[in-house]
Amino acid sequence: MTPFTYQNGTLFAENVSLAQLAENYGTPLYVYSRSELENRWKAFDQAFGKQPHLVCYAVKTNSNIAVLNVLAKLGAGFDIVSQGELERVLRAGGDPKKVVFSGVAKQPAEIRRALEVGIRCFNIESHAELDRIQQVAEEMDQVAAVSIRVNPDVDAKTHPYISTGLKDNKFGVDINTAPELYQQAANCSHVNPVGIDCHIGSQLTEITPFVDALERVLALKNTLQEQGIEIHHLDLGGGLGITYTDETPPAISDYIGALLDKLNDPDMEVIIEPGRAIAGNAGVLLTQVEFLKPTEHKNFAIIDAAMNDLIRPALYQSYQDIVAVTPREDGLQAQWDLVGPVCETGDFLGKDRSLNLQAGDLLAVKSAGAYGFTMASNYNTRPRAAEIMVDGEQTHLIRRRETYDDLIGLETLIEE
Ligand code: LLP
Repeated sequence: MTPFTYQNGTLFAENVSLAQLAENYGTPLYVYSRSELENRWKAFDQAFGKQPHLVCYAVKTNSNIAVLNVLAKLGAGFDIVSQGELERVLRAGGDPKKVVFSGVAKQPAEIRRALEVGIRCFNIESHAELDRIQQVAEEMDQVAAVSIRVNPDVDAKTHPYISTGLKDNKFGVDINTAPELYQQAANCSHVNPVGIDCHIGSQLTEITPFVDALERVLALKNTLQEQGIEIHHLDLGGGLGITYTDETPPAISDYIGALLDKLNDPDMEVIIEPGRAIAGNAGVLLTQVEFLKPTEHKNFAIIDAAMNDLIRPALYQSYQDIVAVTPREDGLQAQWDLVGPVCETGDFLGKDRSLNLQAGDLLAVKSAGAYGFTMASNYNTRPRAAEIMVDGEQTHLIRRRETYDDLIGLETLIEE
């Protein structure tokens, strides 16, 4: 059930009018639904039933501390890729013992901080990283729990930029050579290999690649057992897709059910790292039409949100549904390219959209809760948008709009 529904002809987030939010806080404006975030996390959590598990929300998806806090209150774990994300989790009241640390190049200072607060596990991506973690842990006289991220070489059948499980991606280590690296980890004095990790890509809309990857991970687990290395958890990454337009991803319960069927081991702890499937459809980006610019070849609607606010369409040619907040009853529909004010031809949020528009109209870019604000930039010295969380009838400003001082204040003139 989407939290974004029309009530008396205008779009609401839960019980709050988006038009009202735009009036109060301005546009562009990210708006998230607390109940949707909670319901999606809970759907993952409940799908595991009695299986030992931990649902680690992928912080990179939407890292606002209010979002993290809402999930932390439900008992969520977190998948992080930097110390910055770790500091967010801590600030949001997340439990460090439920944090897994992914990413191809963790800095020594990041490893130190993670050991200091006692995270659950490091997901190691290379031999060199194993050495670095061993070294830092030794300096701190601690033992670091690790998984090795293996690359199971399955085709996630998603956009090449967000597919990560194929041999020619930079991620993980070849699953065939993993036993060697596990042996080295087991021989390290300050590292304890406790799990196997894999993440094959993002926005997957089929179950099969996940199950294929798990099959290979299970074979590895058996090989390791023969080597005397006991595995206590399997981290199967994130990647479940959402509906942006007409995609039909599996239901969360079917996806988890298929994994548990394949696993067929009620004692093995399973960690997953979903991001998009929790936050994607919990958010919209509100924007206002500045000008209509019909030309002989194309109709452009210039809106006040741009690629710096939401880069997915420009970067991946991804489709995000765009709807009128208060659809007009008068006038005619036309085909519009929705373009931003940034000086780039690639600055569009949607192309050839059938809409009935006038300057001043408000639009909602849907499915913007994931990889929206977190990928925003200040390109063209544009302040980043404000963020709102709606909770029933309540509205919370969870990040104020940036000011020009925020943007320029870190810079200094050279002397002379
Ligand atoms: N775990 C790891 C190790 C990851 O690299 C990612 C995403 C996730 C979990 C969460 O994946 P999800 O459940 O959200 O699919 N910016 C792109 C997506 C990049 C995904 C990067 N890794 C986009 O906007 O489509």
